[in-house]
Amino acid sequence: MTPLLSVEAIHTYYGASHVLQGVSLQVGPGEVVALLGRNGAGKTTTIRSIIQLTPPRQGRVVFAGRPIERLPPHRASRLGLALVPQGRGIFSDLTVREHLTLAFRPGPWSLDQVLDLFPRLRERLGAYGNQLSGGEQQMLAIARGLLLAPRLLLLDEPSEGLAPRVVEQVAAVIGRLKAAGLPILLVEQNLSLALAHTDRVYVLSKGQVVFEGGARELWSRSEVHQRYLGV
Ligand SMILES: Nc1ncnc2c1ncn2[C@@H]1O[C@H](COP(=O)(O)OP(=O)(O)OP(=O)(O)O)[C@@H](O)[C@H]1O
Ligand SMILES: [Mg+2]
Repeated sequence: MTPLLSVEAIHTYYGASHVLQGVSLQVGPGEVVALLGRNGAGKTTTIRSIIQLTPPRQGRVVFAGRPIERLPPHRASRLGLALVPQGRGIFSDLTVREHLTLAFRPGPWSLDQVLDLFPRLRERLGAYGNQLSGGEQQMLAIARGLLLAPRLLLLDEPSEGLAPRVVEQVAAVIGRLKAAGLPILLVEQNLSLALAHTDRVYVLSKGQVVFEGGARELWSRSEVHQRYLGV
């Protein structure tokens, strides 16, 4: 299987701080892959390194057969990498409709299809970002990502700060996206969400991959949970 995304031994820095120390991971066509680890492990930095917001100083990022580690982020995004950022990145003074129409690129997802996936957003099209609940903001952030016509969706901690009932809705959406064939790299701290629809898992600690395997294998490895996930 040729991977859709291949991250090869990347080293990423913030100034002098050597954060990612040789991280490698892959996402295959149609796969949902989870990237787990404690606070500060380097999960967001890995996502930022993939989309070239914080380019790695060493190593390679190959997407759809093409090295992208020298491309500016907007070019990486146009190749089909869509980021749903940690913290959601919703603008308080734009409406739901404005967020969605600004993001739209011709691709597999129409506005109507996205609103079918998130019926609540259809009811809230005229609401401003700062009038939305946390769950609505997360749904909007994912909806916006889909309208960017992704070939790979990068989801950074979608459950953060959400009530358990809303986390279940996010999990259901991930399941439907997977069923639609969209590959996802999912960063999570919520283990049950992370593993619900996941094919494979990478666990990061201090900027290095310390576990790589199937979701079921991770369930059975309690020492990995305790040491690296804090659960
Ligand atoms: N802009 C930055 N400048 C300097 N150091 C940073 C910056 N962003 C993150 N770091 C540091 O890099 C390391 C990895 O951070 P990162 O945000 O990738 O972790 P994370 O796994 O996403 O954590 P969290 O679960 O809290 O989101 C941490 O030690 C963090 O303090
Ligand atoms: Mg993070």
